[in-house]
Amino acid sequence: MSIIDSLNWRYATTKFDRNKKISNSDISKLKEIVKLSPSSWGLQFYKILIFSNQEIKDKLLPAAYNQKQVADCSHLFVFCSLKDVHEKDINQMIDQFHILRSNDKDYSKDSIENYSNEVKKSVLGMNKHKQSEWLKKQCYIALGQLMVGCADMRIDSCPMEGFKSNEFDEILDLDSQNLTSVVLLPTGYRSDEDKYQHKTKVRKPNNLLFVDE
Ligand SMILES: Cc1cc2nc3c(=O)[nH]c(=O)nc-3n(C[C@H](O)[C@H](O)[C@H](O)COP(=O)(O)O)c2cc1C
Repeated sequence: MSIIDSLNWRYATTKFDRNKKISNSDISKLKEIVKLSPSSWGLQFYKILIFSNQEIKDKLLPAAYNQKQVADCSHLFVFCSLKDVHEKDINQMIDQFHILRSNDKDYSKDSIENYSNEVKKSVLGMNKHKQSEWLKKQCYIALGQLMVGCADMRIDSCPMEGFKSNEFDEILDLDSQNLTSVVLLPTGYRSDEDKYQHKTKVRKPNNLLFVDE
C-alpha cells in the first residue's frame, strides 16, 4: 500500500467502534512514531497523555462539547505543551544531547554548549504570547506525524480542536505539571455506521493550493 492509499483511506472518524481496541504492541509503535517527530531546536517541549480508561474518557466528554469520539475511541491522545519554559527545561534536553551524542565521532562538548546558548537566547527571549504560540505549534507537528502513522497502520483517528482546554487542564490537573492541553487525537477503529467514511474527500484543486515557479 502506498502512502497516498493510506492518506485516502483515513478520514476524521466521528464514530468509533467501542468494542475494538488498539493492541499494546500497536500503541508502542504509535509512541515511537510520535517520539520521532521533529520539533523546533529538537526540544520536544510537549507531553502526550494517552487515555484508554473509560472513566477518564467519559469525564472528559462534556469538556469536548460531547463529541463522542472522545469517549468511544480506544485510546485518546491529549497533546499538551509546556505552559512556561524555564532554563532547567532547556538544560534537561541539552543533557540528552550530551548523553546520546557522546559516542558520535564528531562529538564536541563545546559545540553543544554553544547550541544551548543559542537556544536559550531564542526561547527565553520570546515574549509570553509568542512563546505560547510557538509551544503549541510543536504539538501540531507531532499530531500530523501521528495521524499519518495511524493511517499507515490502518488505525483510525480524528484530530480535534473542539474542546475546552481550560476544562481539560483542570480535570487532568495539568497546571501543577506546567502543562496545558493543545489538541486531541482519539484513535481506534471506525464503526460501520460512521457515514463520513463513505464521503468523497474535499480538497482544493492543485492550481489553488500550489504555486509552481
Ligand atoms: C486541527 C484540527 C482540528 C479539528 N477539530 C475537529 C473537531 O473538533 N471535531 C471534528 O469532528 N473534526 C475535527 N477536525 C476534522 C476536520 O474537520 C477534517 O479533518 C476535515 O474536514 C477534512 O476531512 P478528513 O480529515 O476526513 O479528510 C479537525 C481537524 C484538524 C486538522
